[in-house]
Amino acid sequence: MTQERISSVLSEERRFPPSKAFSASAHVGSERERKALVGQADADVVAFWEERAKELAWFSPWKKPLVWKYPHAKWFVGGTTNLAMNCLDRHLGSARRNKAAIIWESEAGEERTYTYYQLHREVCKAANMLLSLGVSTGDVVAIYMGMVPEATIAMLACARIGATHNVVFGGFSSEALRERINDSKAKVLITQDGVMRRGEVVELKLAADAALQKCKTIKHAIVLRHTGDNVPMKSRRDIWWHERMADASAEHEPLALDAEHPLFILYTSGSTGKPKGILHTTGGYMTQVAYTTKVVFDLRDDDVYFCTADIGWITGHSYVVYGPLLNGATIMMYEGAPNWPNPDRFWDIIERHGVTIFYTAPTAIRSFMKWGDHWPEQHDLSSLRLLGTVGEPINPEAWMWYHNTIGGGRCPIVDTWWQTETGAIMVSPLPGATTTTPGTATKPLPGIKVDVVHKDGTSCKANEGGLLVVQHPWPSMLRTVFGDDERYRKTYWSDYPKSRQHPGWYFTGDGARKDKSGNIWIIGRVDDVVNVSGHRLGTAEIESALVSHPAVAEAAVVARPDAIKGNALVAFVTIKALPKNTKRSVLAEQLRVHVAKEIGPIARPDDIRFAEALPKTRSGKIMRRLLREIVTGAATTGDTTTLEDAAVLERLR
Ligand code: WT7
Repeated sequence: MTQERISSVLSEERRFPPSKAFSASAHVGSERERKALVGQADADVVAFWEERAKELAWFSPWKKPLVWKYPHAKWFVGGTTNLAMNCLDRHLGSARRNKAAIIWESEAGEERTYTYYQLHREVCKAANMLLSLGVSTGDVVAIYMGMVPEATIAMLACARIGATHNVVFGGFSSEALRERINDSKAKVLITQDGVMRRGEVVELKLAADAALQKCKTIKHAIVLRHTGDNVPMKSRRDIWWHERMADASAEHEPLALDAEHPLFILYTSGSTGKPKGILHTTGGYMTQVAYTTKVVFDLRDDDVYFCTADIGWITGHSYVVYGPLLNGATIMMYEGAPNWPNPDRFWDIIERHGVTIFYTAPTAIRSFMKWGDHWPEQHDLSSLRLLGTVGEPINPEAWMWYHNTIGGGRCPIVDTWWQTETGAIMVSPLPGATTTTPGTATKPLPGIKVDVVHKDGTSCKANEGGLLVVQHPWPSMLRTVFGDDERYRKTYWSDYPKSRQHPGWYFTGDGARKDKSGNIWIIGRVDDVVNVSGHRLGTAEIESALVSHPAVAEAAVVARPDAIKGNALVAFVTIKALPKNTKRSVLAEQLRVHVAKEIGPIARPDDIRFAEALPKTRSGKIMRRLLREIVTGAATTGDTTTLEDAAVLERLR
């Protein structure tokens, strides 16, 4: 991370206390109340989470709230529950029975609403559909869909019968889908004909067919008819969603599942080639997701809550689907692109549906800024009362724009820090209590112990840069990397292993500093993970995609700061030989397309730079640090004596 960025955030001192009006009705309405919760959690963190778990429904109580066998946590051991039951059945006996659970809008403008009663019915039918196809508790179901209500129904149906879902982002390629299906050994795939994006059909079924050519574990593909386009159906393997659902009973008793029953696997990029299957379980995840949604978004029964994330990411799991439903909220769900048909689509949705809470990513905010103030200005956004951001540090300029132009200067902003691995929000303001400052996610939530430490584990002084660690197991933490517990230990627990002083600390991969008031400022990733438009990409994964192209000998991918995306990807490539009659510029474009095909368009490098050789250490390791300095225009710093051939660097410049 650049020095410039660190000093720019250091000078930020604007302070935004919550308004009296907001605090008056908030779940946590003052700093005093927030401190009381923190105090309660400090006194006994496990008891604190037990209190939260008790707000939810359990079939049988737990015997032990936490069993910690470094580095593995089990929460609410011996308890049984069901997440779908907590999201749906629990509300049917209350005034929420006929309340809108999901208000959905397609890109073309079709609208559909599901009440809690209706959603429950659909989920029961979908659960019976899965059972009728031989899916049983413990099986993995892959879901490759767009932002349609049925995707939510599919997830909840899995949770209801104890099938572990593996949602694969609809923007990923067939190669990426295949890898994730095979690694998780999924038995059934749920997909759809296509999904709309900027007026065009993204053909999910065709991509799924390509993936399934090499997926041995898949027995059936359930296909939702959504766009109505003709898609090939493979006899016996492929089944239409609407046909099976028509035959399925709407009655289904939720299964009593162990608190540690695997709820889902979600793949995320790491610093080595293969994506990691992050495994989350039931009881702890449910508890922390329910609590954080309630206090961070300050949910009330009359809210219309709109989180713009795709269900293919962890934000979609925790804060589009599970968190809001656990709280009996009304979810606004939108299928398509923010700039379709015009760049005011979100503002139009907010106005027409009376959205009160809006949660999006800094990269999106920077795009809105670029598109111009006249788009939001055409709309009445006065229904909004709270704004949120997630995914990367928000630059103060974007924060101020969000605050003034979208929030009308009236809405608190919750900058929420968390990860796929943490499952739920960890560091965030509580909007009725916390005084916010643009650029900081402020303080750890009650029940979460976080610090910024040096490599040797000593605590950093105020404003000293260090590494962000979590110092006590938390309920919604990942349980392992699916099928690779060794990688779990190595990636997260080997930097600060269990010692006489502490139980083992979780390393987040983020660099951070803490200011005098204890606010945490995230500086960025310290590993070979790059945040592009709020999405996490492993440079090693992109490099291995590049090297799989026949013309490529070697590749190194680094990030260059980008005004909209946060980071842009620059790939340095050495080639075996230029293919006959192919210009370099043509090959460069071919390589960009190749990466999009191997992983997905989000991983497509912005620049391809051909090099005769890459800077390497004598032992043959590519020195990405030097490449990073080249693309950011920084002077070469640090040690270059390990460089095998200094002339390589000169030529690259
Ligand atoms: C990484 C996790 C959690 C859902 C979205 C991304 C960065 C996330 C913030 C924030 C600064 C943030 C971190 C983190 N990040 N939220 N509010 N401020 N940085 O999930 O793909 O698992 O990525 O995103 O670097 O480690 P993810």
